[in-house]
Amino acid sequence: MNQEKRIIAGVYHVSRGLGKHFSLEDINLQVANGEFVFLVGPSGAGKSTLLKLMYMDDFPDKGQVVVGQFVSTRMKRKSIPDLRRKIGIIFQDFRLLEDRTVFENVALAMKVTGAGMPEIKKQITDILTRVGLYHKRYDYPPALSGGEQQRVAIARAVANRPAILFADEPTGNLDPVATKNILELLFKINAGGTAVLMATHDIELVRSFGQRIIYLEEGRVALDKEMIFVGDIRDRIGGSSVSESASRLSEYDITGGEEE
Ligand SMILES: Nc1ncnc2c1ncn2[C@@H]1O[C@H](COP(=O)(O)OP(=O)(O)O)[C@@H](O)[C@H]1O
Ligand SMILES: [Mg+2]
Repeated sequence: MNQEKRIIAGVYHVSRGLGKHFSLEDINLQVANGEFVFLVGPSGAGKSTLLKLMYMDDFPDKGQVVVGQFVSTRMKRKSIPDLRRKIGIIFQDFRLLEDRTVFENVALAMKVTGAGMPEIKKQITDILTRVGLYHKRYDYPPALSGGEQQRVAIARAVANRPAILFADEPTGNLDPVATKNILELLFKINAGGTAVLMATHDIELVRSFGQRIIYLEEGRVALDKEMIFVGDIRDRIGGSSVSESASRLSEYDITGGEEE
């Protein structure tokens, strides 16, 4: 895809205190349009807290978050739904409406934008086909596997074609096969132009894919690095070129904090 690079989400000198023993401390990061970024760090590092600040479910004590034209320090409560329609969010526990069908779960995300029914139907057919669940459109979430539920959640999150998708441990409840499928789907969605910021505690899961990794440790960015690899999924989705340092990076210990 040949699009001009611009920053669609930025975190600038953000600090957030929570309780006695934890704070996010002077966090700085930027995500460009179409980028795929893994936010990695051990449990308790602050990943969910940071994502919440980015989708503005919470606000910094210091610093600023900017997502599209939305600026945390100037955010009005009534603008929040407007922001949420322009981003996508998925969670470890899917958060689907269990008494609504797959189709309705996705449709509800779209109705709020004021789209008409023919438009909604066409779009949902399209998105459910893309996530491989059109044949289950009349099923209810409890009848689906975890991996399928997460695919519905992804369909719902991207139904309004957001510029960025925030994913908080989206594979945390899934077995290895479903995990791989969800990652492939996220790569596919990213290849369609949606930026993805995915939080996970599982460094082994993500280190082989070649995406940029932001490593969070005790509320600070310990490392922010492009890790270029030749992963098989990357090959299949037609990824970027291979860096000359690829083989060295494959040995790189991300927790070592050794920057060149
Ligand atoms: N609302 C809160 N009040 C107090 N402490 C919190 C709150 N939310 C999270 N924490 C604490 O902040 C730390 C970071 O949590 P979190 O952002 O959920 O980390 P992660 O997603 O990386 O596992 C943890 O120690 C957690 O217990
Ligand atoms: Mg978390």
